[in-house]
Amino acid sequence: MVSSSSLLTLPSTFSRLNLFPKSSILSSFTFKALNLLKFHKQQRLRPLNYPLLYFPHSFSSSATHFSTSTISVSSKSFDDDLVVLGIETSCDDTAAAIVRGNGEILSQVVSSQADLLARYGGVAPKMAEEAHSQVIDQVVQDTLDKAGLTEKELSAVAVTIGPGLSLCLRVGVQKARRVAGSFNLPIISVHHMEAHALVARLVEKELQFPFLTLLISGGHNLLVLAHDLGHYTQLGTTIDDAIGEAFDKTAKWLGLDMRKSGGPAVEQLAQEGDAESVRFSIPMKQHKDCNFSYAGLKTQVKLAIASRNIDAKVPLSCASSQDRCSRADIAASFQRVAVLHLEERCERAVEWALKIEPSIKHLVVSGGVASNLYIRAQLDKVVNKYSLQLVCPPPNLCTDNGVMVAWTGIENFRVGRYDPPPPANDPEDFMYDLRPRWPLGEEYAEGRSESPYLRRARVHPSLTSLVRASHQQQR
Ligand code: KG4
Ligand code: ZN
Repeated sequence: MVSSSSLLTLPSTFSRLNLFPKSSILSSFTFKALNLLKFHKQQRLRPLNYPLLYFPHSFSSSATHFSTSTISVSSKSFDDDLVVLGIETSCDDTAAAIVRGNGEILSQVVSSQADLLARYGGVAPKMAEEAHSQVIDQVVQDTLDKAGLTEKELSAVAVTIGPGLSLCLRVGVQKARRVAGSFNLPIISVHHMEAHALVARLVEKELQFPFLTLLISGGHNLLVLAHDLGHYTQLGTTIDDAIGEAFDKTAKWLGLDMRKSGGPAVEQLAQEGDAESVRFSIPMKQHKDCNFSYAGLKTQVKLAIASRNIDAKVPLSCASSQDRCSRADIAASFQRVAVLHLEERCERAVEWALKIEPSIKHLVVSGGVASNLYIRAQLDKVVNKYSLQLVCPPPNLCTDNGVMVAWTGIENFRVGRYDPPPPANDPEDFMYDLRPRWPLGEEYAEGRSESPYLRRARVHPSLTSLVRASHQQQR
């Protein structure tokens, strides 16, 4: 963290939303420029001496960039006065929060679709979209009310634009643009996985770049070296399913109560079981890399359940004690092996990371699955071997939330990475910049997976490559 007396320099800005070609870029830009003028006239950030002079310098390229002269501001007053609303709708939680630049959480609200999840055993995009649409206005209003603020008192709006489900992302982005447009606020586009990682810097003020991070959720399993804000190297990813998906399916097949999602239910039942009783094999032992695979372990669990005649239709609360015992043994054995896979990959990743960035001191473990206490304890042992420190955000900041989005917005806003206020109303045919499959960092060349199963097709350029390209263009 920058000390209160030090100066924060604000380098050139780049537009995260507008790095992709849009057919109407010129006309929309003129509109934005007018808006910007209005924005600058109001100078909502004037007391902070925030740089308010933006010069559009590239009309010829498909990308829109804004550059600022480098201006120093006192980080203390800047951080205290900055108030950002964060909106998150990438998957099945509709979340919003308001966070101050100094890390103070003013309010947060999460509306969960756990009931839908429990009923259908997974996220159905169309239903999830409808559920988001129904609650988004209320969630944002409650967030403002809890903080005792009105939109006029916000400094900016941050919103997740990817990765995630397009239909769901759209609901959050639409809302964010409506708020930002109506109240003339800058808007910050947020990468969901960057947000999971960076929220650790809100919690642990000592956490400096570079650090290693393991991001484990329902859809992602990433080992990433965070060199700096917007600069990440992907050491490993999953070649098929993420660990959260394996927890959720295990819970479903064991007939557990999914209302708080599958992971917590498996973790709880595992405490009753014998973790050595079912012999599952650890995935990818022969691959000496940092990639993950959970599809095979899922199949092993399914077979074990079938061979013990466990009927998922019989809820755990109605199971005989012998049945309960064998369900608990499977839960515990699954969890042990799922986590052994994490441990093995993390050890290798720490070794790689220390070679690339010898100064790293922390392993950040975040994403919904990082709420799991057994995982935290096992990974703590791994980092201790290398004299590193484990940083895990509290469970409510590990699972999807608005705080992480607001905070990532703050981190990016501070270095000038944001868009000017959008128009008050987007045209009906407006093409939202949503990035359902959006890598965080470039793949580590020496750790490249040879697996033919690793899906690389049709993804957006990584966040890191966009930041780098924008820096190069501004030189
Ligand atoms: O990050 P997150 O809230 O949403 C996604 O971006 O996917 O992660 C949700 C995942 C679900 O798969 C859920 O079962 C899992 O996190 N999870 C857990 C625990 N709490 C949540 N998995 C294992 N143990 C837990 N205690
Ligand atoms: Zn997530």
